[in-house]
Amino acid sequence: MKNKTFLGAVLLVIGLALPAAPANAAGEAVHAYQQSWSFSGPFGTYDRNQLRRGFQVYKEICSSCHGLDFIAFRNLSEPGGPQYSEDAVRELAAQFTIVDEAAEGGEREGVPADRWPNPFPNEQIARDANGGALPPDLSLMAKARTIHQEFPWWVFNYFTAYQEGGADYIYNLLTRYHEAPAHVELQPGQYYNEFYGVIAMGPPLADGIVSYEGEGTPETVHQYALDLAAFLQWTADPHMVSRKQMGFRVILFLIVLAGLMYMVKRRLWRDAH
Ligand code: HEC
Repeated sequence: MKNKTFLGAVLLVIGLALPAAPANAAGEAVHAYQQSWSFSGPFGTYDRNQLRRGFQVYKEICSSCHGLDFIAFRNLSEPGGPQYSEDAVRELAAQFTIVDEAAEGGEREGVPADRWPNPFPNEQIARDANGGALPPDLSLMAKARTIHQEFPWWVFNYFTAYQEGGADYIYNLLTRYHEAPAHVELQPGQYYNEFYGVIAMGPPLADGIVSYEGEGTPETVHQYALDLAAFLQWTADPHMVSRKQMGFRVILFLIVLAGLMYMVKRRLWRDAH
């Protein structure tokens, strides 16, 4: 009897999970390829060089359409992030012209405290430049999206503390542009992305499109997408590393406290037989 109840429960869980099979916007089932990230797991940290590469690709390619509204130039020099020197950040900010009503002529040179300037002055102009579609702000994109996993794989996420769904989403989005299959009809300004479905963003990356400093890092779509996803994970969650460290200290403290409490309990109850 007990066995049957258990079997019933298992079947019910499977049944509930099955309809949640992942699909792209065109309604086709897709599998998301998961990558291994330096920042995954309870001790994961950002790789500074990777964040710098990701920022470079964002700046050279994505920033012509996508804003990064929640990032100020000075954030790029903070510990735990790409951590450019303050001088480098000051120089970078000065390359931008910031609209500022208080300034003479309504414009001035950027300073580190300024937010990253949006490529378009307003939503209408952004839409007009993109065939009616709006390129969303990317600051929090890694938190706003995640991948869908088939049962039973998502069950393991509870044990591995999987939080990299946003980075995996961005990686898949950027690497899976293809010719549209015969049954999908594209309007002008539409592209086919196997992971996303029909999308109004053309494939933004191509092999060799960005030159990395130094030797050794491949200049491929795969690598650019990994670096961008890591960078956008950082913009969405810049304090992740310090939060994980704090979490670890708290757990350590609780373990020590539990041991002490156990010893106190033994002592107090020593004579009570
Ligand atoms: C020429 C303009 C343009 C460039 C360059 C561009 N994008 Fe986009 N992007 C768009 C538009 C337009 C959309 C909205 C697409 C839609 O709604 O179908 C979009 C959507 C997105 C989305 C959201 C997808 C979703 O789930 O809603 C992400 C993430 C994204 N872009 C990332 C990037 C990254 C990273 C780069 C740089 C490698 C980049 N884009 C370069 C125009 C652009």
